[in-house]
Amino acid sequence: MEVVEGIVEVRAAVAAARRNGHCIRLVPTMGALHAGHTSLIDAARRDGGYVVVSIFVNPTQFGPHEDLQRYPRPKEQDLAACRDCGVDLVFYPSVPEMYPPGASTFIEVEELSTVWEGAIRPGHFRGVATVVAKLFHIVQPDVAYFGQKDFQQQVIIRRMVRDLDLPVEICNGPTVRDVDGLALSSRNAYLAPNERVAGLCLFRALQRGEQELRRGNSNPRHLSAAMQELIRSTPGATLDYAAVVDPLTLRELDVPQSEMVALVAARVGTTRLIDNAVWRLP
Ligand code: PAJ
Repeated sequence: MEVVEGIVEVRAAVAAARRNGHCIRLVPTMGALHAGHTSLIDAARRDGGYVVVSIFVNPTQFGPHEDLQRYPRPKEQDLAACRDCGVDLVFYPSVPEMYPPGASTFIEVEELSTVWEGAIRPGHFRGVATVVAKLFHIVQPDVAYFGQKDFQQQVIIRRMVRDLDLPVEICNGPTVRDVDGLALSSRNAYLAPNERVAGLCLFRALQRGEQELRRGNSNPRHLSAAMQELIRSTPGATLDYAAVVDPLTLRELDVPQSEMVALVAARVGTTRLIDNAVWRLP
């Protein structure tokens, strides 16, 4: 496994792999790798070709009062995880490598970036879209992998790829959960034991919604009210939002449709947690 910090080195390694006829597959991450990340890497590995993982805690997607400083950066552990997964190349750039002094060009995916997570984290998706577009230009992958865990992020990246005609296919991997249902997240490391219990309300809210749906209560407003009530009544958790939306526009639904997505977000102590579920009506 090769580990490189420079854009020039990535381009050279990828060009050599392409000359050898390999399909280039990219899994972008911010490190602190867990089973959610490695499930995406495993999928890329299974699909075959040359697997690139980028590890970069991207400052432009953090708000001024967010956790950029305390975000975990266990470099050796992450490299070992990549090695175990059979990664070919790890791109581990510094901040100045990705953002030279005076960098002032950004990508804005309008509307989709200003709702839900975007409403609570202004500028977040501008930073995500910009860094992902940069990674696409640096690595030039044929296929890139993203988790369903960050549903809105994946929708925004697909829209960017479509709107800017980027020659990359986007693949999604299912959300990987702990045995109790909590969606794996690098931020779970911040949770004290009692906060971890409170954090389970997101998964339980999604289960509650699904239960209602199976009972025949498919009205999206009813489903979101049921999820909101569950989160609101959880001690130690503060509801940010719980809504049933269209999977492409992310607009809140008033009437049921064949495919709906439940988006939930809450704060537990100083930690923000998100989760989602895709619901299909028969
Ligand atoms: P990060 O939070 O490190 O996540 C990297 C990828 O792993 C994302 O596609 C995310 O959706 C996926 N992922 C995270 N938790 C998961 C889980 N429990 N199950 C399945 N997949 C999971 O998302 C980012 O980094 C950044 O915004 C990034 C796209 C790298 C841009 O900086």
